Amino acid sequence: MGLKFDFSNLFEPNLPGGLREEEIDACVQRMGDVLRRFKERRPDFSKLDPNWISSVKAYEDWVRKFDAVVVLGIGGSALGNLALHTALRPLNWNGMTREERNGYARVFVVDNVDPDFFASVLDRVNPRETLFNVISKSGTTAEVMANYSVARSLVEAYGLDPKEHFLFITDPHKGVLRKIAQEEGIKTLEVPPGVGGRFSVLTPVGLFSAMAEGIDIEELHAGAKDAIERSLDEKIFENPAAMIALTHYLYLKKGKTISVMMAYSNRMVHLVDWYLQLWAESLGKRYNVRGEEVFTGQTPVRALGATDQHSQIQLYNEGPNDKIITFLVLENFEREIVLPKMEGEEFEYLSGKKLSALLLAEQLGTEMALTRNGRPNMKVIFDRLTPYNVGQFFAYYEMATAFMGDLLEINPYDQPGVELGKKLTFAFMGRKGYESYKIEIAKKKVTIE
Ligand code: PA5
Repeated sequence: MGLKFDFSNLFEPNLPGGLREEEIDACVQRMGDVLRRFKERRPDFSKLDPNWISSVKAYEDWVRKFDAVVVLGIGGSALGNLALHTALRPLNWNGMTREERNGYARVFVVDNVDPDFFASVLDRVNPRETLFNVISKSGTTAEVMANYSVARSLVEAYGLDPKEHFLFITDPHKGVLRKIAQEEGIKTLEVPPGVGGRFSVLTPVGLFSAMAEGIDIEELHAGAKDAIERSLDEKIFENPAAMIALTHYLYLKKGKTISVMMAYSNRMVHLVDWYLQLWAESLGKRYNVRGEEVFTGQTPVRALGATDQHSQIQLYNEGPNDKIITFLVLENFEREIVLPKMEGEEFEYLSGKKLSALLLAEQLGTEMALTRNGRPNMKVIFDRLTPYNVGQFFAYYEMATAFMGDLLEINPYDQPGVELGKKLTFAFMGRKGYESYKIEIAKKKVTIE
């Protein structure tokens, strides 16, 4: 039970020009310091407060009466929800009848202000049977505020009581959502103040919508708890999170500035998107902890196997050798399709085989080709997509990100680079108090119409 990790193709002699075990050995002391510092100042995300589960469970009966939960959030307040939904529910969940869903809710995650997108979600739900789950830690994010106002006016237009159709997940004290909730008696859950958005999937942020669609949230925590414990092991070669951080760090130093995560399962694509945000926003930093300019980070890229073998793999095999690739491999699929017998040479080798066997063979072929071409790659292996395994995945990568942040000597928990753009948006939309940000960026226009 649990995830398996295969780091073999990051190392010599499997990988020509790859890492040598001595390079890891040489970092044991440094990694030990990283682990000690982590244990001393244990970040809240890694504490897995049992109250995160119990506070969500308090709404278990209430949420059962809704046919749909529409999550309104963005970034760390949405990507985990989407990852859980796609990985742990059938891909056609939102198209199934309520009976087929055992009465659990459909879950839509609206994480953009694209009117075509939001309107198409609203078309698919009946407001009378819908709960709008507004998630914003700060309670100031423009996209979420805009989408909340749309949902709010819809609920009011139907003559419904907002107290019965909204649940806010927000900071326990600050922000406009908290204020509205206090004034109007709208139900709330807390984003723990010490947990940043992209580290919050295992808090009520991710747990509530997961519970609403029937995902076992206790198992999610059980997997995460085991992974966190394992991530504190000082035997580096037995610690997956330390190995991920250290190998990615050493390869970054060797010029692998891109980290590709390639899932061989459509149900895992949003796990990859979740990782993309975590790795990008946590590690992409201008300054180190001493305030020196470092412009560090490793650009995460998403790929889907086998689809992107016909799009990206040429580049990965023969283009610049600047990537470290992680495969997400699923050994047992929920559904299976056996290929029918067909006449002709082009079909013979396929006849009678499982579609999953073809996908797994494609993954192996890609991995071996990359290895032969000197392209470092590793595997995270899921025997099945279960809440326990997905909980492990989240926790291992959160831990690895924290460790990588320490190795890079940056603060992985802030995002100053996002702030200026947010303020400029406020200024362009005419928000009071932001006028001074409205600077003329284009001194010279070069446009084609
Ligand atoms: O990880 C983060 O901190 C960000 O991606 C935030 O989650 C995102 O900006 C949304 O912020 P908020 O939850 O305050 O609306």
